Amino acid sequence: MGLQNQPFNLGIQADLKFGLNIVQQELANSVKQVNGKKVFIVTDKGLIDSGVVDNVTNPLAEAGIDYYVFSDVQPNPTADSVMAGVEMYEKEAADMIVMIGGGSAIDFAKALAVGATHSGFVLDYTAGRKPIEDKLPPLFAIPTTIGTGSEVTRVSVITDAEAGRKLVLVSPNIIPKTVFVDPTLTLGLPRQHVAATGSDTLVHAIEAYVSLPANPFTDGIALQAIRMVMDHLPQTYAHAANVEARAQVHLASTLAGMAFSLSGLGLVHSLSHPMSARYGVPHGLANAIILPSILDHNLPANPKKYADVARMFDPKLVLESESKAAGSLMPLVRDFLSSLDIPESFSYLGVDFTEDKVEQLAEDAMNDTTALTNPRKAVKDDIIKIYNKVLPESIS
Ligand SMILES: [Fe+2]
Repeated sequence: MGLQNQPFNLGIQADLKFGLNIVQQELANSVKQVNGKKVFIVTDKGLIDSGVVDNVTNPLAEAGIDYYVFSDVQPNPTADSVMAGVEMYEKEAADMIVMIGGGSAIDFAKALAVGATHSGFVLDYTAGRKPIEDKLPPLFAIPTTIGTGSEVTRVSVITDAEAGRKLVLVSPNIIPKTVFVDPTLTLGLPRQHVAATGSDTLVHAIEAYVSLPANPFTDGIALQAIRMVMDHLPQTYAHAANVEARAQVHLASTLAGMAFSLSGLGLVHSLSHPMSARYGVPHGLANAIILPSILDHNLPANPKKYADVARMFDPKLVLESESKAAGSLMPLVRDFLSSLDIPESFSYLGVDFTEDKVEQLAEDAMNDTTALTNPRKAVKDDIIKIYNKVLPESIS
């Protein structure tokens, strides 16, 4: 298609602060500048127990800023739980939100901010059904995993528990205005979370790089994120105390988030969302398991870009043709993921994936908005075939 036929419009908004201990040093000042009355902190219980949330509450308390800690965020948060959070936000008469955690806490807080300022049920505002206006409270985001990217995106993924589906709120108005990327907060991240959320960053960066609306800005950001993950995720996984490796992958997560927020995602996410919504698979893990099969499907749509990525993983591939280099990507990525002990299929779930169940997953995946920016179209049969590569064979 070429750049001459590809206009784009970049909306980069976040005030991004990066550095070791940056939260301790700058959060209170940033919050003070807003001149609000009460901060509503959104997080999960694990982060309270591990002491990570003290990095937020201590400086706020020292600065005499009033706050309330809401920690009832579950993985893959449901719309009903968001509405319970809205009720508490109103009861506490809060007027600012500090979100600290992984993708679930950040998506939850963004949705809560919509629910607290817009009438009715939060799901009414998903998929653009009702507009999200520019009247949200000031949002401060502090990611503590190395894979969400949600701190810089215009998207919040919420589960409709009744329908067993993930739905998205999409609006530039839900992008947090101030983001703190502080690698010290990730030091206690359990090893399997490092592997899963770090793989999510790799998926974000690859999907953003090959997505249909990708442009030279997002390409640059995505390629840099891929390189940082490739070079430093295995170190982070193997050596918990390697602060430099953590800093690299933590920032890579935000970079990849920026890239996909500005360009788009693809079929890895379309197929992984139903696995999380219906079977509770952690988001990053679902993506990591699905990634190789989607690379295989997408390859013919943009061999040049897949060759670029393959040549990052194996520089010797510059000597090979574009198609040979692109064809090498899937095994290279598989090796990379297996070095992080990511399983190759969902058989560990112990679920009998009957034809009906796979059909249902494929329906959900087809309706997931991330499919729209995928570089190669996929009809339902394609999606069923891809699922069958990563699901155990049905025993019935
Ligand atoms: Fe993701």
